[in-house]
Amino acid sequence: MQRSSFSGSVGFVLAAAGSAVGLGNIWRFPYLAAKDGGGLFLVIYIILALTFGFALLTTEIAIGRKTRKGPLSAYRRINPRFKNLGLIGCIIPMMILPYYSVIGGWVIKFATAYLSGCGFEAAQDGYFTNFITHKYESIIFTVAFLLLTSFIIYRGVNKGIEKFSKILMPLLLLLIIGISVFSLTIQHTDSSGEVRSGLDGLKIYVIPDFKDLTLEKFSVTLMDAIGQLFYSLSIAMGIMISYGSYVKDENNLVKSINRIEIFDTAVAFLAGAMVIPVVYVFAGYEGMTASGPGLVFVNIPKIFAETGQIGNLLGAVFFTMVLFAALTSAISILEAIVSSFMDKFGYSRKKSVVAETLIALFFAILVCLGYNALYFELPLPNGTNAQILDLMDYISNNILMPITALLTCILIGYIAGPEKIISEVTRNGEIFSREKLYRVMIKYIAPLLLFLLLLKSIGLL
Ligand code: PHE
Repeated sequence: MQRSSFSGSVGFVLAAAGSAVGLGNIWRFPYLAAKDGGGLFLVIYIILALTFGFALLTTEIAIGRKTRKGPLSAYRRINPRFKNLGLIGCIIPMMILPYYSVIGGWVIKFATAYLSGCGFEAAQDGYFTNFITHKYESIIFTVAFLLLTSFIIYRGVNKGIEKFSKILMPLLLLLIIGISVFSLTIQHTDSSGEVRSGLDGLKIYVIPDFKDLTLEKFSVTLMDAIGQLFYSLSIAMGIMISYGSYVKDENNLVKSINRIEIFDTAVAFLAGAMVIPVVYVFAGYEGMTASGPGLVFVNIPKIFAETGQIGNLLGAVFFTMVLFAALTSAISILEAIVSSFMDKFGYSRKKSVVAETLIALFFAILVCLGYNALYFELPLPNGTNAQILDLMDYISNNILMPITALLTCILIGYIAGPEKIISEVTRNGEIFSREKLYRVMIKYIAPLLLFLLLLKSIGLL
């Protein structure tokens, strides 16, 4: 059977960017950047995106196009001994989908709050905490998000959603730029009389501070940045292999990869520029570094409240757009799981969707209960106290993804050889300007970094 393919490189870039740009950029990136104190995280993240992230993204997309297979068969094609890599790759999206749906549910909650004109309430202290600690409220919104995602895949109407998102994504970007410029103008005097401005916050966000840098702090920041990179680029879980398998031979991979990378990183950077100055203004540096997964939901409403009456409208538009960004990513996560179920167990498409929805539902409810009935605080090696959500996030991003990525580096760097990827990328004579960098990354630097990261993540370093 002829494998269907993207109509052109623009279609591919937009689809891959739709998967990449999501809650990772808008929810996860700002809170990690704040937790790690700003500048250093940002600089490490950008350097890694251009080197390490680029090498892995290139590898996966090229493996996909070369083998024309999804991850379960693609690794086997390259080398039969690596066939189980596809399997780990399939478990990762299964771990992500439940908690992604929970955060998607938070987005729906805020979108509906603004749509029903309750924006000022949403900006009050305690609003977010009351919501997630409520017995069942967050479960309702989580289920809504998950069912919406499943319905879209079940009915096969994802193309329609993607069409919408092609219009909404650029608008979201413009809105984020507007909001981040506005957040620079905010000022606040706290109870001790200290005046902090958005501009001061921006400086902390972009300028690394090496003053109190310790090895421990550096390694935690590095660990967070790598985990975020996997998450944000949707790499180290096979998704980009599937996308690559649909790219036509004549498309220029180098160009497409650059675009995906730049777009994804730009959205993350801007989301940080929108949120971090505000956190700094209202909560100071200590408030920043104490931040957790709720950061964006607590602080963005404050920006809208500052804008006055128009804030309700802005909030409604903003959260609706974020919902679309989240949906296009969630769709790609569910689609990856569904196609693995179809390949592996021979299930029909519909049966696979129903099976995975039930599994995800179960875990998603556990994640919600993690903030009330099942609340605990588990100290993790990255210095945070985890609830169920953080724990699932940590296991996937800091343990399973590094394992997948490390094995991929060994497979390509030493067994199949980087030539395989390079020849695929340059098959139409494209100029691959980062070829040398690619070789060094995939053979030496990335595996070493990943190995150290793994030791650190499981608390051995
Ligand atoms: N990259 C997406 C984001 O930034 C999340 C995602 C994770 C998508 C895993 C696919 C797979 O939100």
